[in-house]
Order: sequence, then C-alpha cells, then structure tokens
Amino acid sequence: MNEHTLSMRLERVAANVPLGARLADIGSDHGYLPVAMMRRGVITSAVAGEVAATPFHAAQRTVRDNGLEQHITVRLADGLAAIDAGDGITAISICGMGGETIRDILDSGKAHLSGQERLILQPNGGEQPLRQWLMDNGYRILCEELLQENRFYYEIIVAERAEPVTYTDEELYFGPLQLRARSPDFLAKWQRMLRQKHKTLASLEQARQTVPDAKVQEIAEQARWISELLA
Ligand SMILES: C[S@@+](CC[C@H](N)C(=O)[O-])C[C@H]1O[C@@H](n2cnc3c(N)ncnc32)[C@H](O)[C@@H]1O
Repeated sequence: MNEHTLSMRLERVAANVPLGARLADIGSDHGYLPVAMMRRGVITSAVAGEVAATPFHAAQRTVRDNGLEQHITVRLADGLAAIDAGDGITAISICGMGGETIRDILDSGKAHLSGQERLILQPNGGEQPLRQWLMDNGYRILCEELLQENRFYYEIIVAERAEPVTYTDEELYFGPLQLRARSPDFLAKWQRMLRQKHKTLASLEQARQTVPDAKVQEIAEQARWISELLA
C-alpha cells in the first residue's frame, strides 16, 4: 500500500468521502488516504492528524514528496484536537483502530465537531460500543460496508448527525443496515464469529471461578443472537 495504491479497505473508506470534501483523517499514519484522495482530485483539502511522532513524520514526508503542502496540513495532535475551526472540515475519517478507541477519540474531541461533518469510521472490532456512541450522540448510520481482505473482515460505518434514532441491542451488535441486507460476506463473518464464541464459552467453562458471571452471560447472549441470525 502507498499513496498511489490504497488497500481495498481504504479504497472503500475513500468511496464514502463526499466529492470535494475537506477531510480530516485522524490517525493517518503515512497519510496515504488523504494524499491519494488529493492526488485524484476528489477532495479539496485535508488535515492528517497523528498522535505519534514516527507516523507524523511519515505523513509529512508523503505530503512533501507529492508536493501537496498547500492542500494537506499534517498535525501532531491527539484525536480531533488536530482539527481547527478554520479548517472547515466536512468529513472525518478514523480508520484502522479498535472501535472503543474511535469512540473515545470522538467523545473526548466533541468540542471539535461542528455536527455538519460526515463520519467515515473503520473500526477493527468494537463496532458495538462505537454504534452505541453514535446513537447516544445523535448520529444516524447512513451506510455500512463489510469487506474481507487478507483473511480479516473489516467494517466501515458512515454516519451523520440527524434526528434522534433508536437502534435495538441486536442492531447495535450486528449493524442496523447489515442486519437488514444479510449479504453473503455478513453471514460468513457471523458463522466464523459463532465458532469463536463457542470456543470462548467452552474455555470459560473451565475457568469458571476466575471469570465474572456477567461476562459469561454476555458472551452466551451474543452466541444466541448469532445462532438466531443464522437459523
Ligand atoms: C493502525 S494505524 C491505521 C492507519 C490508517 N488510518 C489506516 O487505516 O491504514 C493507527 C494509527 O492511529 C494513530 N492513533 C492512535 N490513536 C490516536 C489518537 N488518539 N489520535 C491520533 N492518532 C492516533 C496511531 O499512531 C497509528 O498511526
């Protein structure tokens, strides 16, 4: 992967960024996503935010090597603190991190959100708490994608501020739109997840004393939801 050829995962993220957006890519690492999108002329400008020095310097280098310093600002900052009000950001991508980390970035950076931005989120696990945060904070899920790359399943969640919406526990767990669409990839993912849940429950059964009952109940409930989904 580089600024010319994105992974399939980042290609699908890019496809959900509106044409002409002013994009903030938080946790940008090498800055490949904003640089590729700027090179293709599909965004107007970007901020690449990084909390760690090494990827921050890598992103600066990618921007410089492509002569895009006038259009992409690289900032060393924690989460949404990379965004300045004057940037006029219209879309925020946060990709390749756990869903809980993305949720925490959104929650601690609320002051930097105008409420007008489209969020394009690609969590690696932890989708349920992330969807819970979106619901609790007045976001509606507009689009969900699931793709498989290098044996991993990746989810992309696209959300915008809208009138309050209520999702059921199962919708928060599986994704409200994916639950309705039931694509072949979606069903294959949950078949794999069900096998994992059963394995986890079997090993927890042996370590019963050390694992809180509530945790076992939670996993058993998830296994039941998945069984019902696949039935
Ligand atoms: C696994 S990389 C993903 C890079 C790229 N977004 C992608 O999807 O390919 C995660 C990046 O997020 C950065 N990161 C983690 N927490 C962050 C935070 N609170 N603020 C900004 N960047 C963060 C890490 O330093 C790392 O470079």
